[in-house]
Parts: sequence; C-alpha cells; structure tokens
Amino acid sequence: MGKVAIQIFFSIAFFLLLVSRIRPATSQEVEDEEEFNYDPNGENGPANWGRIHPEWGACSNGSMQSPIDLLNERVEVVSHLGRLNRSYKPANATLRNRGHDMMLKWEGDAGSIDINGTEYLLKQSHWHSPSEHSINGKRLALEVHMVHESVDGRFAVVGIMYMIGRPDSFLSSLTQKLQSVAGSSERDTVAGVVDPRSIKIGSRKYYRYIGSLTIPPCTENTTWTIVRKVRTATREQVRLLRVAVHDVSSHPDLEYFPYIK
Ligand SMILES: *[C@@H]1O[C@H](CO)[C@@H](O)[C@H](O)[C@H]1NC(C)=O
Ligand SMILES: *[C@@H]1O[C@H](CO)[C@@H](O)[C@H](O)[C@H]1NC(C)=O
Ligand SMILES: *[C@@H]1O[C@H](CO)[C@@H](O)[C@H](O)[C@H]1NC(C)=O
Ligand SMILES: *[C@@H]1O[C@H](CO)[C@@H](O)[C@H](O)[C@H]1NC(C)=O
Ligand SMILES: *[C@@H]1O[C@H](CO)[C@@H](O)[C@H](O)[C@H]1NC(C)=O
Repeated sequence: MGKVAIQIFFSIAFFLLLVSRIRPATSQEVEDEEEFNYDPNGENGPANWGRIHPEWGACSNGSMQSPIDLLNERVEVVSHLGRLNRSYKPANATLRNRGHDMMLKWEGDAGSIDINGTEYLLKQSHWHSPSEHSINGKRLALEVHMVHESVDGRFAVVGIMYMIGRPDSFLSSLTQKLQSVAGSSERDTVAGVVDPRSIKIGSRKYYRYIGSLTIPPCTENTTWTIVRKVRTATREQVRLLRVAVHDVSSHPDLEYFPYIK
C-alpha cells in the first residue's frame, strides 16, 4: 500500500513539473503573435497598427511610410555611388520565429554598411513573402530586409527582391535550420556562425529613398537601399520561410495577400 502511495506521489509530482515547464514557452508565443498581424480586416491588422501603442503612431500618421511602389517619385534610381560600401563579418546568429515572420538575428558584431559617411551596424535580416515593395504595382515572391542601425539610433535597410527560379545559395545554406524551425514550437533556434557576406547582392544599381521600418513602430527617416536586380529563389525555399510562421502572411499560396497599411 505504501509503495503505491509513493508511486502516485511521484507521478503527480512529475506531471506538475512537466506542466510548469511547458506553460511559459506557449504563452510567450501567443503574446507575440497577437501584438500585431497582417489580417486586412483584423483589429490588429496593418490599418490599425498606429492605434495599438502610442509609440506606433507613425504607422498611421507618418508622412514617409514604407513600403511603397518603386516607381514612386520619392524613389531615385542610383548607380553613380558604385558598390554598396559593406564591411560585414561572420558572427553567431539565432533564427527567431517572430510569429509574423522569420528573423535571423546576429548576436555578435556582424559588421556594418557605410552610407553617405554614416556607419550603420548590421543587426538582423528577415523575410517577407510576397515582397512588400512593388515594381509598377507588381509584387515579387520574396523580399529580404537587412536591418542596420547607427549608434545614434537611425536605421538603414537593404532590401533584395526574389522571383521564383534557381535556388538562392544563402537560403540553401539555411535549409536545415529552417526545416527544424518549421517543425518546432520553440521561438529561437541557434543558427551558429552566419556570414552576412554570403547574402548575394551583385548589383551596383539600386533604388534609394527615405522611408520607414515596415513593421511597428514604423520608425521614419529610415534610409532604404533596394537592389535593382531581382534575384531568384525556389518555390520550396519561399515555402519554407512561410510555413514556420503561424500567421495569414504565411499562407502557402504565393499570390496571397498584398497588404495595405
Ligand atoms: C493621427 O493624427 C490625428 C490628427 O492629426 C490624431 O487625431 C490622431 O490621434 C493621430 N493618431 C495617432 C495614432 O497618432
Ligand atoms: C560563436 O559562438 C561559439 C560558442 O559560444 C564561440 O566559440 C565562437 O567563437 C563564436 N564565433 C564567432 C565568430 O563569434
Ligand atoms: C566605406 O566605409 C568605411 C567604414 O565605414 C569608411 O571608412 C570609408 O570611408 C567608406 N568608403 C566610402 C567610399 O564611402
Ligand atoms: C547624402 O549627403 C548629401 C549631402 O549631405 C545629401 O544631399 C543626401 O541627401 C544624402 N543622402 C542620403 C541617402 O542620406
Ligand atoms: C534624418 O536623417 C538625417 C540623416 O540621414 C539627419 O540629418 C536628420 O537629423 C534626421 N532627422 C530626424 C527627424 O531624425
């Protein structure tokens, strides 16, 4: 009788331990996903981002918001500046499922880009599908944003657009990690050392304009550099970036859902 009681006691204790360990991860994920989303008719959709927090007001009231169409008069096509002045270096990184997108966040010093004499440090890259910027009203399959920040808190984002075609070598190098993120409920996955120089740009021509971050807090005065050459990625690579996130933006149909802020 005493033995059975002890067994029951340990079973209950083990069960409670399991429950207590599972709970924090789940609630953090839900919180993240509910803060804002891309549902065009939703309470927390793009049209309402500016009302969710006072600090996000620029999303509704800003005067230089992104994304825009790249034929807009605000956009200049630049080729006289030569190659982008990048001095990146390999650093440890984490893949983070932010609920609305997948982000590769460098933990160490991943180097910087120099624009007009200002140094902007590379912080993270994340992917949007379909692309956020459009060209003559057309969206492409995928757009990566490499987000940089200066020491005085100004942002510079380098964007690269992709259509469906041959594999992108940088995404190929991340395939295994992305697959493991897709099959896991963990928010963060260690990506190891990632070299930002392997994100291919390969063009001296780019679109340049002053806009904003495209997700809250939609910070303005952000310098945009979008590579003019459209690169390629496979349907599977784009799908992999979408399936891991549990959001309307992750709908597997590539043509789904252009959003309006
Ligand atoms: C946007 O501007 C309008 C009028 O200028 C103001 O009434 C409103 O509170 C502002 N909204 C936000 C979110 O800042
Ligand atoms: C990456 O992290 C590992 C383990 O913490 C460390 O040994 C290594 O030096 C780091 N590499 C870089 C490039 O920072
Ligand atoms: C390139 O960036 C480096 C480091 O920020 C800077 O020292 C150098 O002057 C820049 N070169 C050009 C041509 O802008
Ligand atoms: C670069 O600097 C020049 C001169 O100060 C200025 O006219 C131009 O708008 C700047 N460009 C960017 C992208 O900041
Ligand atoms: C915007 O950025 C420019 C340089 O890129 C800077 O001179 C200016 O002070 C900034 N303005 C605001 C309102 O932050």
